[in-house]
Amino acid sequence: MSAIRWDRLFTHATLATFDGDTPFGLIEDGALACADGRIAWVGAMRELPDGATATHTEDLGGALLTPGLVDCHTHLVFGGNRANEFDMRLNGASYEEIARAGGGIVSSVRASRAADEDTLFAQSLPRARALLADGVTTLEIKSGYGLELDAERRMLRVARRIGAELGITVRTSFLGLHALPPEYKERRDDYVALVCDTMLPALAGEGLVDAVDAFCERIAFTSAETRRLFERATQLGLPVKLHAEQLSDQGGAALVAGFHGLSADHLEHLGNAGIASMAEAGTVAVLLPGAFYALRETHLPPVAALREHGVPIAIATDCNPGTSPLLSLRLAANMACTLFRLPPEEALRGITVNAARALGLIDRGTLAVGQRADLVAWHARQPAELCYWIGGPLVRQVWIEGAPM
Ligand code: NIG
Ligand code: FE
Repeated sequence: MSAIRWDRLFTHATLATFDGDTPFGLIEDGALACADGRIAWVGAMRELPDGATATHTEDLGGALLTPGLVDCHTHLVFGGNRANEFDMRLNGASYEEIARAGGGIVSSVRASRAADEDTLFAQSLPRARALLADGVTTLEIKSGYGLELDAERRMLRVARRIGAELGITVRTSFLGLHALPPEYKERRDDYVALVCDTMLPALAGEGLVDAVDAFCERIAFTSAETRRLFERATQLGLPVKLHAEQLSDQGGAALVAGFHGLSADHLEHLGNAGIASMAEAGTVAVLLPGAFYALRETHLPPVAALREHGVPIAIATDCNPGTSPLLSLRLAANMACTLFRLPPEEALRGITVNAARALGLIDRGTLAVGQRADLVAWHARQPAELCYWIGGPLVRQVWIEGAPM
């Protein structure tokens, strides 16, 4: 039998594998090996094969090792910011009132349209860096602050550039149906047609679109308009997801589940019919406690019912200039625990394995043989610490496909 020689071997690690049903998939005093960018071996130290060696061996001395975190819902590419609206909301204006008065998403559209590609990249890159510094190795980024072909293209190109620049995975979502641009105020149908028949096919043809998203809400788009987009996405072979039931129940979750959608996101006002449809379709529930917190919402998402129906729950930052200027996925997990009463185990599955599933990715999110070796070693020994500490630099080291960052 030839001797095993791996590229990299971690010894004496506390492994939170999120593989299987045991709490955190925890392996105390564990070892993990990587070869060719993948996980090649994972288990307890005492079971390490005799004579196995690696080019690089690192004794983690009991430190926690997890899969790289996955932020499955962000809008982090945008121009300017909306600190002024933060002030307005604190003085009593609601998100809907600000949006109806021409602020909200449309004000970020103005700033994003005015920014050229390099400016947008320079403004957005630090936000992605902040997420990475907190352990994120896979990131979703949406368009939706351009709302015209060139500006949407610019956002998606910047998203791709961020992935290339940082060496992390960026998955893009086209969010042309985010808000009605002011110039289409009296011509809704024309805008929906432009998005479905011109923008989406063009951007998909340029390889800029990994999934298609929309905002189905009173202040945004109806379920009929959303359906039209999803039909076009399906024709183009693109998966769909949806901002659903954030401010009211529009039946969006059932709609996206009917298209075998990857995820339905927000869901504070989700009802039983939507939950049943999601369970049947395997659509992931993405909860966004940053937006709940920033909008000072009080209507909780139906966490217990999602759990009872076996709907996988993911947690994301929703990093955006209006409702969630949040630059830490660990803080989102902390808020999911504190505000939504998720136990740490559920919150952490929500930013690893279930978040990967929400992006349609099955090659990451757990520590198991064959998975991508996207790994984080932490200044922590227990998994729960990741959502217990509020802030602070907890990341000790990140590896992407087995190579140190
Ligand atoms: O996910 N809900 C719609 N879209 C974003 C908010 C975008 C904005 O206000 O700029 C969200 O919360
Ligand atoms: Fe969002």
